[in-house]
Amino acid sequence: MGAFLVYTLAIAALCSHANSQLVPAIITFGDSTVDVGNNDYIHTIFKADHPPYGQDFSNREPTGRFCNGKLATDITAENLGFTNYAPAYLSPQASGKNLLLGANFASAGSGYDDNTAELSHVIPLSQQLQYFKEYQSKLASVAGSKNASSITKEALYLIGAGNSDFLQNYYVNPFLNKHYTVDQYSSILINIFSNFVTSLYGLGARKIGATSLAPTGCLPLARTIFGQHEKGCVSSFNTDAQQFNKKINAAASQLKKQLPGLRLVIFDIYKPIYDLVANPKKYGFVEATRGCCGTGTVETTFVLCNQKSGTCSNSSEFVFWDSVHPSQAANQVLADSLIIQGISLVA
Ligand SMILES: *[C@@H]1O[C@H](CO)[C@@H](O)[C@H](O)[C@H]1NC(C)=O
Ligand SMILES: *[C@@H]1O[C@H](CO)[C@@H](O)[C@H](O)[C@H]1NC(C)=O
Repeated sequence: MGAFLVYTLAIAALCSHANSQLVPAIITFGDSTVDVGNNDYIHTIFKADHPPYGQDFSNREPTGRFCNGKLATDITAENLGFTNYAPAYLSPQASGKNLLLGANFASAGSGYDDNTAELSHVIPLSQQLQYFKEYQSKLASVAGSKNASSITKEALYLIGAGNSDFLQNYYVNPFLNKHYTVDQYSSILINIFSNFVTSLYGLGARKIGATSLAPTGCLPLARTIFGQHEKGCVSSFNTDAQQFNKKINAAASQLKKQLPGLRLVIFDIYKPIYDLVANPKKYGFVEATRGCCGTGTVETTFVLCNQKSGTCSNSSEFVFWDSVHPSQAANQVLADSLIIQGISLVA
């Protein structure tokens, strides 16, 4: 069946629930691909709290998202019937009735490996889980404990992590890359993933989706810093990502056998992003090798990607917003793929 037809059917299935959300709440963990602003409230240089981040968001202001506009998970929330996004847990909005929509614990620069987060002074995954426990008791006081447990059970849990563990830690950290092969380090990360899912399950979660690794070798940052000897994507990084993705899929199958009633999907983001980079014109893009923001090659932090560094004239034509993160236009393509892959979580 063609992807478009599947997409149409998926949307049709979702629309039969018009005027209601398919899940009561969305709870999110991970890194900058899903962070909606937690890093604005901590001491780190990994912040997207300044223009031009957010220039295409509804109020045209920075939101803490590492994008010109919406993240793929924002669009996914809309596709599931949400008219408001679950708040960043550290923001003042994360209180009272807003908590009924869920909460976002993600922190740009974080990963499965807590050391990855510590290098950037951001929120480690283990701390994100502690915050989730705190959230659960706040939710119980807002909704009553019975309602809170049903929200916990019916909510959609999203995990977007792993890319930073390689790009900001393994590849640049001799302590890791001299002591562990990629395969060994991947296994360490997967073990953390499995424990994390098991912990969430123990806390009541039943519908969990986690993203695979992206084709990290195709990110403009990787091409610039690590790709001097290659014309296209850094092929060794992509091979590493594909190996990791095989392992996380195997781990997910194992978890589903072990944990009764668990729905768990590994969203393949490798293929959709790789396709965008390999065939940008097919999707209406003109540029897939550099980001729109700044010179688009190495800018990820406020140091370089800022108002002075300038942006391209039309971010809809760029697959990447900055040197690491997809543009809103690319996130739309990604979200179309996520809804097809994730139908079993919410149908
Ligand atoms: C629990 O949910 C029901 C149905 O939405 C609602 O009527 C009730 O007020 C909630 N209980 C508390 C304690 O908020
Ligand atoms: C930006 O580019 C997109 C895709 O090519 C196009 O549809 C849109 O009209 C452009 N917007 C402007 C303001 O040029």
